[in-house]
Amino acid sequence: VDLTTANTLRLPCQAARYIAPTTLSSLQAALYSARIHQWPITLLGGGSNVLLPPTLHGMALRPALRHWWLERSGDDVTAYVGAGVSWHALVMALATHGLWGVENLALIPGDCGAAPVQNIGAYGVELSDVLKAVQVAELATGEMYWLNADACQFGYRDSIFKRALAGKVVITQLALRLSATPRPVLGYGDLAARVSESPTPLSVAQAVCAIRQEKLPDPAVLANAGSFFKNPLVSNEHTHRLLKEYPDMPYFPQPNNQTKLAAGWLIDQCGLKGQRLGAFGVHERQALVLVHFGGGDRPGLLSFADTIAQTVFDRFGVLLELEPRVI
Ligand code: EPU
Repeated sequence: VDLTTANTLRLPCQAARYIAPTTLSSLQAALYSARIHQWPITLLGGGSNVLLPPTLHGMALRPALRHWWLERSGDDVTAYVGAGVSWHALVMALATHGLWGVENLALIPGDCGAAPVQNIGAYGVELSDVLKAVQVAELATGEMYWLNADACQFGYRDSIFKRALAGKVVITQLALRLSATPRPVLGYGDLAARVSESPTPLSVAQAVCAIRQEKLPDPAVLANAGSFFKNPLVSNEHTHRLLKEYPDMPYFPQPNNQTKLAAGWLIDQCGLKGQRLGAFGVHERQALVLVHFGGGDRPGLLSFADTIAQTVFDRFGVLLELEPRVI
């Protein structure tokens, strides 16, 4: 099965089997088959945050559960959302219902089931701010259970699903905490300047879409997987040293004597923005995004990324880590 168009970087990938069950019972049946035949399972969502290998053995599985419903108690609303719902479609639907909570996360590509894995975040909000619980099915047994938000061990672009539970469970459903009471989060960048004084969830979502469209390439037009590197955490000491030489460097103070730097700025400063090497390039409007012009493969992309990380390390002494999941 050709998965080249099932990943937004359009890396060539052939899978032995691909299944996208739309009901829980067909998902259970797929897990059962994989157990019987001892097929390793590769979990996929929208394919917007993965670096796929040229060949996948076993079974590629994309849970395509597409139900969602709302449960209201006063001004608090819980959304129960199947893993296969498109994240952006959900955001727009909830914002249209006048519900606050996820509007800053508009236009993030991918499926809802993938959102907790890397704890998606943008414009001052992370999924972990609104997530109540995640329902999973164990690959080895098919047994289903809920994990509350604490148990998910969320961090910056990080969760238990990348660590202790990696390759052990498939996410089937999310429970999100929303509110009908206004609670706009407008502190990031120039977001506040782009919405009116009495914003609605929909107007905030639309402003976020406009900002993203200005900077981030549409994967349907130019293949990419969003940010290719995480924003690095460094010691405050290291940041102060850099600030002496680069007083305009953006930085974001964090707990534990650490600072988050903007990887996009570091790459940009090295003069790499808009640079192209063969099939791959650094996006011309956002240096944190690598783009694929076509004809390349994963080894080529990883070696391009290495060159970028090495250049940043030589200049700033900062190590960049990959953001997408390498399968
Ligand atoms: N910057 C540059 N040049 C660039 C890119 C950025 O100088 O080419 C500077 C900007 O001017 C700004 C700072 O770097 O001062 C931060 O840039 P921006 O606000 O564009 O955000 P980012 O740190 O590059 C992060 C997330 C994005 C998210 C945005 C907005 C990560 C790895 N990336 O990017 O998430 O949309 O903030 O919240 O945390 C993703 O994860 O795929 C992703 C796109």
